[in-house]
Amino acid sequence: MNEQRRRRINLFRRLPWIKVLIISGMLGVVIWGVIISLKSDEPKILLLEEIPGISHEASSGDGEVKISLEFSNIWEYRPVLTEKKLIALTFDDGPSEHTDRLLSILKDNGVRATFFALGSRAAAFPDVIRKEAAGGHEVESHTMNHVDLSKLSEVGVRSEADGAVASICGALGKERCIKYVRPPYGAVGVAVRNVIKQPLMGWSVDSLDWKIRNSEMIKAEVLGHAFDGAIVLMHDVYDTTVDAVEGVISALRGDGYTFVTVDELVQERRPNLETGVLYGIFKP
Ligand code: NI
Repeated sequence: MNEQRRRRINLFRRLPWIKVLIISGMLGVVIWGVIISLKSDEPKILLLEEIPGISHEASSGDGEVKISLEFSNIWEYRPVLTEKKLIALTFDDGPSEHTDRLLSILKDNGVRATFFALGSRAAAFPDVIRKEAAGGHEVESHTMNHVDLSKLSEVGVRSEADGAVASICGALGKERCIKYVRPPYGAVGVAVRNVIKQPLMGWSVDSLDWKIRNSEMIKAEVLGHAFDGAIVLMHDVYDTTVDAVEGVISALRGDGYTFVTVDELVQERRPNLETGVLYGIFKP
């Protein structure tokens, strides 16, 4: 044993705290290793698809995936809330001679929409109003004659509102049937706020179909502005709009949207709307 090494060992003996440090360090490494190995033994959180014995049912309208348990030995299950993207297609100013074809397209594609009908048009096409309602669509009021309500007196607004209720609800054999009123041009004044007893329903995506009159461009306009919770404005009085609808539906579906009526969107996102207030956006 040479002199240098002996000196080093003596130093080690004289300084016991170095031993304590080294031993505790080694212990720490061992404990850390045990913790890591225990952690990796934790059960992996499985997706529903990976759990044997659980099968999906179609997701229900209440935003919750319903599952059926085929085995009773699954001891824990937490329901998964789906993150659905919702969108409401709305059609104004009808019914018209084009509405029937639109209803067929909606039916073929399994989509329910909302019709903001004019009272004057409902009087001319009461059977189409009934067909809309029978198809599970929502039928609401776009007033009687499509005049700018912000320029009318309270008496004038009341006449426009009540006329539409009488005409639309009359076609459906009901005294009252209107839950939302869409003011023409989205124009709202004090008289409107004072008189109309329903929440006012605007829109958040204007398809510009009334101006564009080209089905491919209408589709591009809707897709370019769609978002979760949007209300899309279209008009069932142009054949180019009806031509666009199937493409709009399949493209939005491709983007993961679920189609709902306006009232379904309201109930899902923001129930208890106030009367006299204009709404149009229902983001999550
Ligand atoms: Ni209109």
